[in-house]
Amino acid sequence: MANDKILGLSGSLRSHSYCTAVLKTIQESALTGVELTIHSLADIPLYNQDEDGDRSPASIKALREAIRQSDGIIMISPEYNHGMSGVLKNALDWASRPYGASSLAGKPVLTMTTSPAFTGGVRAQTQMNETLLSIQAWPVPRAQTVIGSIHEKIRDDRLVDEVTLGFIKNGVVALQGEIVRVRNHVTR
Ligand code: FNR
Repeated sequence: MANDKILGLSGSLRSHSYCTAVLKTIQESALTGVELTIHSLADIPLYNQDEDGDRSPASIKALREAIRQSDGIIMISPEYNHGMSGVLKNALDWASRPYGASSLAGKPVLTMTTSPAFTGGVRAQTQMNETLLSIQAWPVPRAQTVIGSIHEKIRDDRLVDEVTLGFIKNGVVALQGEIVRVRNHVTR
């Protein structure tokens, strides 16, 4: 069986981002049947409908194609002022187009948030799932992965909290289950 191709998107551009550190840890965890590629959002311009369509920027075409080629997505964001980061929202706005033909439509997505606060970015995650539903993506129905006190769980840009990592690994298994459902055209 071929590995599931998972695309990792981080809503933080910070070089020592906790969100990106979590993605890198998953990538290095050698999960069964998973091939995780992290796609940086650093070169995504601000959304401008005038620039969309056939003439959309190369970085946007690359993002849309990376989403299209993936079997599923792990999307992780910090919480900024009780919402997802502008970086991620902006990328989702680009990815949502063309209207009715988004590469995200029907795509299984496992959402996660992190924060140094004990609330773990839960408000941002609610917003992420709401936005994904509007694009008709397929958020994994599961207990939310909100990682509070993240600064105490990261060392050398990697997640070192085994309990949190175990919960995340179960989330990835759930994502793989949704990928199978989509592949087999199972509706819910
Ligand atoms: C924050 N932070 C934050 N945290 C939180 O739990 N709720 C919030 O509403 C906010 N708001 C917020 C706004 C802005 C502009 C910044 C810069 C930060 C803290 C944030 O969670 C923290 O900086 C994370 O470490 C950012 O994620 P990365 O960059 O480590 O992935």
